[in-house]
Amino acid sequence: MNGNLVFLGAGNMAEALVSGLLACNRWPRERLMVADIATERCDHFARKYGVHAMADNAAAVVGADVVVLAVKPQVLPEVLAGVRAKFPPHALVVSIAAGVTTTKIENALGGAVRVVRSMPNTPALVGCGIAALCPGLHATPRDLERAEDLLSATGEVVRVEETQMDAVTAISGSGPAYVFYLMEAMLEAARQLGLSTVVARKLVYTTVKGSAELILKHDLPPEELRRRVTSQGGTTAAAIEVKDRRQVKQAVIEAVLAAHRRAGELSRL
Ligand SMILES: NC(=O)c1ccc[n+]([C@@H]2O[C@H](COP(=O)([O-])OP(=O)(O)OC[C@H]3O[C@@H](n4cnc5c(N)ncnc54)[C@H](OP(=O)(O)O)[C@@H]3O)[C@@H](O)[C@H]2O)c1
Repeated sequence: MNGNLVFLGAGNMAEALVSGLLACNRWPRERLMVADIATERCDHFARKYGVHAMADNAAAVVGADVVVLAVKPQVLPEVLAGVRAKFPPHALVVSIAAGVTTTKIENALGGAVRVVRSMPNTPALVGCGIAALCPGLHATPRDLERAEDLLSATGEVVRVEETQMDAVTAISGSGPAYVFYLMEAMLEAARQLGLSTVVARKLVYTTVKGSAELILKHDLPPEELRRRVTSQGGTTAAAIEVKDRRQVKQAVIEAVLAAHRRAGELSRL
């Protein structure tokens, strides 16, 4: 990929993408620029990554080939209004703003702009993210490829229809929080069982990481891997029996469906 790549918003997600792109030499440093109202973020990017950084969004998009929208969703309308007059008509827009539809972005920029919308998640900050992306009305297959190439700097990428973006938000967007919630409960149980915090953290974190790596490597259904550690009358069976009795699986499903409903409500605001 080549051309001038501009990030509007130089926060956590922009940093994950910029550092990922530079680490795998996927974008030349001299063609990368960030714009952020926070001067300390601009200074940080210029110092740490050696990229151009400025406070003026409208000036930053002049000459851009790809513009990544990386500000919070609530400030996006104001940011788009501010760059609209200077926006290069040929530029591809890649939005990572949660819940903002491609139609809203197209309309805010005044028409036939090519937009790819993406939903990343926080493990992107350590290069282990998963991002789903979908095309707007005017985006081409080549635009999707370019966006996929860009986002793969922070992990895996899948393509979906825009109608499925709220489901993606509920599964992988909010997903890390579901895993952390489970980890909180395991840590509390470890405390009640008298394990030290240091040992408990090591046991819990490594168990979650190892379980994820095991399922990815073996590509077996989770039920099967669970069955393999559940002997009849054993310790795991005792734990699962409590979870089934307390309908934990049903509670998790209802929680994800609630996240999905909320994602729909927020994207309609
Ligand atoms: N973090 C996640 O897990 C995650 C997951 C999926 C999607 N996303 C999406 O990714 C986007 C960025 O999230 P983030 O976590 O990186 O947010 P963030 O760390 O808050 O970064 C946003 C940056 O934009 C700056 N900003 C605010 N108003 C601006 C303006 N008018 N012009 C230019 N810059 C402006 C902010 O400065 P101030 O701090 O001074 O306001 C901040 O430095 C969001 O739309 C979010 O929905 C995030």
